[in-house]
Amino acid sequence: MAQQTDSAGSGSEAFGQRFGVAFVGSGSAKLETVLTNEQLAKVVDTSDEWIATRTGIRQRHIANPGDSIRSLGGEAAANAIAQANLTPTDVDLIILATSTPDDLFGSACQIQHEIGASRAIAFDITAACSGFVFALVTASQFIRTGAYKTVVVVGADLLSRLTDWSDRRTCVLFGDGAGAIVLQRSESSDNLLSFEMHSDGTLNDCLNASYQHESTPLTENVTVQKGSFNPVTMNGREVYRFAVNRVPEVLEKSLFHANLTVDDIDWLILHQANQRILDAVAKRLKISSDRVVSNMAEHGNTDAASIPIALDEWVRSGKIKTGDVLALSGFGAGLSWGAAILKWGK
Ligand code: UT7
Repeated sequence: MAQQTDSAGSGSEAFGQRFGVAFVGSGSAKLETVLTNEQLAKVVDTSDEWIATRTGIRQRHIANPGDSIRSLGGEAAANAIAQANLTPTDVDLIILATSTPDDLFGSACQIQHEIGASRAIAFDITAACSGFVFALVTASQFIRTGAYKTVVVVGADLLSRLTDWSDRRTCVLFGDGAGAIVLQRSESSDNLLSFEMHSDGTLNDCLNASYQHESTPLTENVTVQKGSFNPVTMNGREVYRFAVNRVPEVLEKSLFHANLTVDDIDWLILHQANQRILDAVAKRLKISSDRVVSNMAEHGNTDAASIPIALDEWVRSGKIKTGDVLALSGFGAGLSWGAAILKWGK
C-alpha cells in the first residue's frame, strides 16, 4: 500500500534527537569520456534536436572500462572529505546510494577500502534516483541520535551498465557519475531543516531493471532461479506525469515542515531527469529559473549521482555559499520520491 501520510516521511519531529547535522563538504568524480547526442544518433534512430528539445541533454559522461563504482565513488568521497578539511580516518560511516554496484553484496565497503576510511562502517542503499536523498536522510538519523559524528554519503551510478543501447526511448537519457557529501555532528544548530520521503510500489512497473530468471531443476524437489538483470525499461510518459505532480507536492510539504516558503530557497536541486520536469516544477512552485540548478546538458540523468554532482559543481563554482538554503528532491524508480531542505555549511 502506498504510504502517503505526513507522519511517515516528515523530519520535523525532534523526538529522540540529541544533536544537529551540518553539511560540511562536497565532491564528485571526473569522468573524461563524453558521449554526445550526435554520436548517439549514429547508434540509434534519434537526433540531437529531439534529445535536446525533449530533455535538455546534449551529452553524457560514460565510465571508462577501468572505472568502477569503487574508483569513482571513492574519488567523489575523497574530494568531499578533503573539502571538509577532514581525513578518511575521521569518517565513522559511509552510505552509498547506488543501483549499479560493482558487487551485489554492496560496494560501500570497497569505497571504504579505496579511500582508507579504516574506522568507517559502510553499507549500500538502493532507491534509484531517490537514493541520494534517502541516504542523506538516513545518515542524518545516525548523527541526530549521537551514534556517529562524521558520515559520508555517496551517490554513484554507472547506468551505462543497465542501458539497452538499442532502445532510443531510454538510452539517450542516461549517463555515469559519482558525487558525495560529508555530514557532521553539530552541537550548535541542525541544518537539516526538514525532509519528506515516499514510496509507491504499485507503480513499480513504470520504471525498473528487473531480475529475469529461468527456473532450473537442481534436485527432484528443488528448483533454483538462474538469470540476470534486464536493462532499464521505462514508461516515460507515466514517470513524467508522476514527477511533475509529486515533486512540487513533496517540496511544498517539506517547506511547510521547515516553516519556510519558496522565497527562502536559495537553490532548488532536483534529480536531473529532464529539463522540462525542472521547468514544470519551478513554474508550479513559482521559483525563478536562476535559482534552479541544472547540469543536465552536460551529464544527462546519472541516477543517484545526479543531485550530489550538481550540488558539488555549484559549491565549487562559488554559487552555493555557506548558509544558503537548498531544496533537494529525488524521484524515480520504486516508484519513490523525497525531498530534503537543508542549510549548507556549519
Ligand atoms: O530518472 C528517473 C526519472 N525519469 C524521468 O523522470 C523521465 C520522465 N520521462 C521523460 O522525461 C520523457 O517522457 C522522455 C524524455 C523519456 C520522453 O519524452 P516524451 O516527450 O514523453 O516522448 P514520448 O515518449 O511521448 O515519445 C514521443 C515520440 C514517439 O514517437 P510517436 O509515437 O509520437 O511517433 C517516440 O517513439 O518520440 C519518439 N521517440 C524518439 N524519437 C527520437 C522516443 N524516443 C526518441 C528518441 N529520438 N530518442
